[in-house]
Amino acid sequence: MSEKKELLEKYPYYDESLSVDLRVMLILNRLTLKEKFKLLSGKNFSWWTTKPIRHLNIKRMGMTDGPHGISFHSSFKKNTKFPCAKCLSATWNPTLAREYGVALAEEVRAVGRHILLAPGINIDRTPVNGRTFEYYSEDPYLTKEIAIPLVKGVQSKRVGACIKHYALNNQETNRRSVSVEIGERSLRELYLQAFEEVVKKADPWVVMGSYNKINGVHACENKELLRDILMDEWGFNGFIVTDWWATRKFKNPEKAIKAGLSLEMPQPSVYKIHRLRKAFRKKKFNLKDLDFVVERLLKVMIQVGLFDFEKVPEGKRNTDEHKKIARQIAEEGIILLKNQKNILPLNREKIKTIAIVGPNAQKKFGKIHYGGSAAVVAPYEITAYEGIKAKCGKTIKVTDNPAKADICLFIGGLNHSRGQDCENFDRPDLKLPDEQITQLLATIEQNKKTIVILINGSPITMSDWHSKVPAIIEAWYPGQEGGYAIADVLFGDVNPSGKLPITFPKKLSDSPAHKSERTYPGDEQVFYDEGIFVGYRHFDKEKIKPLYPFGFGLSYTQFALSNAKLSTYDLTDDELMKITLDIENVGKKAGSEVIQLYIGANDSKVPKPIKELIGFTKVTLEPGEKKQIEFTINEEVLNYYDGNADTWITEDGKYTLYAGNSSRDIYFTQEFNYKSSDT
Ligand code: GLC
Repeated sequence: MSEKKELLEKYPYYDESLSVDLRVMLILNRLTLKEKFKLLSGKNFSWWTTKPIRHLNIKRMGMTDGPHGISFHSSFKKNTKFPCAKCLSATWNPTLAREYGVALAEEVRAVGRHILLAPGINIDRTPVNGRTFEYYSEDPYLTKEIAIPLVKGVQSKRVGACIKHYALNNQETNRRSVSVEIGERSLRELYLQAFEEVVKKADPWVVMGSYNKINGVHACENKELLRDILMDEWGFNGFIVTDWWATRKFKNPEKAIKAGLSLEMPQPSVYKIHRLRKAFRKKKFNLKDLDFVVERLLKVMIQVGLFDFEKVPEGKRNTDEHKKIARQIAEEGIILLKNQKNILPLNREKIKTIAIVGPNAQKKFGKIHYGGSAAVVAPYEITAYEGIKAKCGKTIKVTDNPAKADICLFIGGLNHSRGQDCENFDRPDLKLPDEQITQLLATIEQNKKTIVILINGSPITMSDWHSKVPAIIEAWYPGQEGGYAIADVLFGDVNPSGKLPITFPKKLSDSPAHKSERTYPGDEQVFYDEGIFVGYRHFDKEKIKPLYPFGFGLSYTQFALSNAKLSTYDLTDDELMKITLDIENVGKKAGSEVIQLYIGANDSKVPKPIKELIGFTKVTLEPGEKKQIEFTINEEVLNYYDGNADTWITEDGKYTLYAGNSSRDIYFTQEFNYKSSDT
C-alpha cells in the first residue's frame, strides 16, 4: 500500500477531497479532553507556535510578526523590510496593498510559518500613539480600503492574516490595563468599522484580541465583542488569538472560553490544563463551549495546509520582485508637503554641491525590535544618504558642510527609540527632539536653502522651523529601498503622489484626545469623550486649521477638476448614484492624483461630522491628458449608528457631496436629497 494510502487510513482528515468541516469533525472526534485543552495555548518555550499532538499527526502551526515584513525575533532570519503601514496607506493605492500582502505571505511561507500577525488596523485616535507607524489611518474608510486587499493578498497564498488589535488599542500608555470607556455609536461607527468591513469583505482567518479593556471588560474575555459582534453579527468564522501575554492576569478560563477565545499565546496561563480541567469539572463551561473554540482553530489549521500531503507553497523572500514592491510603495507613499518656488525637484544642471546632514541621513532602521514587534532586520538597507549620493554620481559633489553647498538636505524625523515611534511607549509630544531642532535651526542659518526630509511614522509639529525652510518631504519609514525612493523624488525621477492618511496638527492640544488627563492617557480608564470626532472630523467641526490636513499632498505637476455631474439629485434606498467628474493634468510632468469623495449631512438630528470620506480614486496622467473618473454610492454611505436602537439609521433629508484632493482642498460640492422609499 502506498505511503499516502497508509497515512490516509491512519489519518483520514488528511484527505484534501473531504470538506473542511468534515475534516475538522474527524479530528475533533479523536481528540481527548486533555488534548483539546492542550491546543488552546502556545507551545512552551516556542513563543510562536501551537502545540503538536503527535499521535494524531497534528503539527505545530507557526505564527510570525509583522506588518512590515517577517520579524527577525520570530524567524531568526533577515527578511525584506517593506515600508511601514503609514507609508502604504499614504499611497492610497489598494492595488499596491494587495501586492504588499502577497509578498508578505510569500516571505511567511519561506520561513516555514502559517499565520502573519498583521495588519494592525486600529484607528489613529491620538497622533502620539507609539504604534501610529504600524496603523493605516485616522479614518476607517481609508483603513479598510488598504486592509481588505492586503488581507486578500496574504491569504491568496494560504497564509492566515491576523487583523489586530481588536479592539480600541489606540494608545500604548497602560495598554495592558486601561479600560476604554466609549459609547456604542463611536465604537461602531469609528473604531469597529474597519474591523467589520475587513471581516465581511476579506474573511481574515484570525483576529487578535487586544490587551486593553472595553467598558471594563478585557477584550480577550469580552463575550459581547468577540461572540456577539465579531462572530454572530459579522459572521467571523476564523479563530481568535490573544495578544502576547494579554491573559496573564485572567483568573477564570470559562470566561474566555465562553467569549470565544481559541488560542492563548505565547504560552498557557489562564488556559493552563489544570485550570481548564477544574473549571470543566465544576461545569463552568461544557463540551459544546470547548468544541466551539477548538473547531475554529482546527479549521484554520486545515486552511493553512497543516494537513496537506503536498507541501504548501514554498514561498520566497528577499527576491528582486519584493525589492521592487518595497521601492514602489516607498515612492508612492512619499508626500511632498511644502515646495516653495518649486525648489523641488532638484535641477541637476544648476546644482554643483549638495550638503546632506541630519540624524536620519545615514540611519538604518532595520534592526531587531526597533520600534517593537513590527521590527524587521533587513538583508540591507539603502539609507537616504546612500540613495542621494548614488543619484548625485560624479556630477554633483556631496558634502556635510551646509555652508559650502548650493542646497542642503536635512534628513531628520524619529528613530524608533522609546517615545519615538515605539511599541509600549507613546510619544511625549509631537515635536522633533530638541537637539534635532537645534541642529536644524543652525543648519538653516548656514544655508537658507535647507530642505527637510522626515523619516518617521507619526505626525510632527513644525512651529519652530516650518516657515524657515522652502520644502518639506514626508518619507515615513520607507523600508530597505527607501534611500533610492527618496532620491528619485528629490530629483524628479518620481513625481510624488502620496497623501496624508492622518492629520498633521499645528500643536498637540489641537487634537481631540488631548483635552484632559481623562481623555488621554487616562489612568485605569480613558474616556473617549470626543465620540466620533477624531482626526479631520474633529478639525472640521471645531474649525481648527491643521498644519497639513488629512488627504493632503503636493505634486510636481498640477491637476484641474471639472464637469462634475450626479446621475440623480434625489436618491432613494433602492438605487445607486453615479458621480462623474473630469480630471486633467495641466502641468508639465506626468503625475498621479488622488481624488477624494466626502459626504456631509445637512440637517441630521444627531451630531455628524461635516464630511466623511466615502470614496477615492488614484489616476495617473501625462501632461495635457484628461480622464473622466466615476464614483458610485448608495444610501449606505449616508447612515450612522444609533446606539439606542442598536442599528444603522439613514435619515431622509439633504446631503452634500464634496470632491477634492484633500479634506480641505474641495473643488466641487453638490447638494442632493435622500428619501427612503418606505416613508
Ligand atoms: C506584541 C504586539 C502584537 C504582536 C505580538 C507578538 O505585544 O502587541 O502586535 O503581534 O505581541 O509579538
